[in-house]
Amino acid sequence: MNLPLLHSSILLWYEKKGRKSLPWRDKTSKNRAYRVLVSEIMLQQTQVKTILERFYFPFLEKFPTLETLSKAKEEEVLLQWRGLGYYTRARNLLKCAKICCESHKGILPKDIESLQKLPGIGRYTAGAIACFGYDRAVSFVDSNIKRILTRFFALQSPSPKLLESKAKTILNTQEPFNHNQALLDIGATLCTPKNPKCTQCPLQPFCQGKENPTFYTPTKKTALLKQTLEIGIFIQDSKFALTKSQTKLYYNLYNFPLISPPKSHQTNKLGILKHAYTKYNLTLHLYSLQSQELLQQTQQKIEFFTQEELKNLPISSMTLKILDFLKKSTIN
Ligand code: ADE
Repeated sequence: MNLPLLHSSILLWYEKKGRKSLPWRDKTSKNRAYRVLVSEIMLQQTQVKTILERFYFPFLEKFPTLETLSKAKEEEVLLQWRGLGYYTRARNLLKCAKICCESHKGILPKDIESLQKLPGIGRYTAGAIACFGYDRAVSFVDSNIKRILTRFFALQSPSPKLLESKAKTILNTQEPFNHNQALLDIGATLCTPKNPKCTQCPLQPFCQGKENPTFYTPTKKTALLKQTLEIGIFIQDSKFALTKSQTKLYYNLYNFPLISPPKSHQTNKLGILKHAYTKYNLTLHLYSLQSQELLQQTQQKIEFFTQEELKNLPISSMTLKILDFLKKSTIN
């Protein structure tokens, strides 16, 4: 393989078609590595568009530096994360900031090994921070790069180790930042799971899987688990009854209380909502409760909140969806 030609082909494409204006790619910004950290954690399970439109800038406005973040309360960070889901990411981000400010002189480490010791930072994110935050010549593999490499080298069920070594063989050590950002963009816009745009791809002349790219496509992760939740809506004096979840899934976030499948005389069914959360495909059965009786049986600590108070409460995306549903229906 003619590596210099591959590298220049990738860089030329990036110059013309890459998403160079994404704010976390701005090399001139202050606190660059911190901004990369925030973006990478947010992008772990969420699309670029959502992060750009609703989360990245407000978060940085509230917590502009690693130090400001390190001094925040978990509740404040969760509130800022509200609607993004996967709240463990927010908790880990806060822990990272605290550790860096206590043990790393207030800066994020520059090397992969130290970065990987921080909570919530795996091999991919460590590589991305080292490269995008500090211009380190390192390679890394996320799901997009995995698809590119699987096709490019015509691999079948490659191990993570093999993929990492393949990423390393094609790394452009002179221009690691642009090379790796380009790979992310190629994976997101050209080398897509379905209908890849091979004719526009700068890797195409060198790609071993180009005749049958969908054959060399990593299979989907495990299917979502179906779960049904019975949810009690109790409103008293225009205040909503909520409970702080203590389960791992929604730990410390406020949710409507769960109830056991109720008998019809005690409740009024309001509707059914679907909600996808982490590995769960949730079906939410919503019941309006006539009295607190059912809630008392469930042993959850119930607290009441006005609409105004809800605005400043860390609540889950599921609960936001239910509140939206209630607003649209006639209940209030
Ligand atoms: N996803 C993860 N990292 C990204 C980046 N730097 N640019 C675009 N999408 C990404």
